[in-house]
Amino acid sequence: MTVLTKALDGFVAETALVLGSGLGSLVDRIKKPQRFSYEDLDGFPASGVSGHAGELIAGRISGHNVIVLSGRAHYYEHGDAAAMRAPLEALKAAGVKRLILTNSAGSVNKKLAPGSVMQIKDHINFSGTNPLFGEPTDDRFVGMTTAYDKPMRKVFRRVAADNNIEIHRGVYMWFSGPSFETPAEIKMAKRMGADAVGMSTVPEVILARFLDLEVAAFSVITNFGAGITGDELSHTETKEMAPKGGEVLGKLIESTMKEGFDVS
Ligand code: HPA
Repeated sequence: MTVLTKALDGFVAETALVLGSGLGSLVDRIKKPQRFSYEDLDGFPASGVSGHAGELIAGRISGHNVIVLSGRAHYYEHGDAAAMRAPLEALKAAGVKRLILTNSAGSVNKKLAPGSVMQIKDHINFSGTNPLFGEPTDDRFVGMTTAYDKPMRKVFRRVAADNNIEIHRGVYMWFSGPSFETPAEIKMAKRMGADAVGMSTVPEVILARFLDLEVAAFSVITNFGAGITGDELSHTETKEMAPKGGEVLGKLIESTMKEGFDVS
């Protein structure tokens, strides 16, 4: 077991990326990769979800240093919403200032078809839990008004437009999982203002804001939510559909890293 900063041996990165289910191919875009198994890193979760690798890769995308987490711990694995706290603290210690989170999600918006990419502009925490339960300091009262960094959102949208990359914008609703939603829950999600539903990301966004990291997040839509088409949902479908949107997202991230995150 090693502390991340020690394992990285002087490598620092301002940007970190968390890859969701089936989005591991983004790793192929990393140049000069140094790979570390989560098993060897202090505080990193043993990832028990198929489609999630459990590996940290330090390298370069478009000439800029980046740290990529391929695989994350989910609340539904052990009922611990703060399972990603130690990895995010380790990233912060490695110099990370901005965190780009990705996930696979179900769509509750007819305009968001499977294969499309949604930039998350806000979220609804429908899980009833919070990764900051038990945090004793007043820092736990994290403001969430601008949780999804506006300047970064703008940069991504500009780069998408300049490069003919289609991205949508919407609200992500966090369900605990691991069972998928019911058709009634999907109807409710839509009425409550969600565009997509999923089982991750929100706890990391809360933790990242707690740690004062700037956050951007994207959903790759792998299916319509339960009851919309009548088809049964499965994790196999998630893994099969994710790479298509993952390709779009990979291009967007690569192009944005190339242009940089300056707003001007
Ligand atoms: N619901 C929740 N999580 C998901 C879905 C879904 O329909 N698709 C991929 N992840």
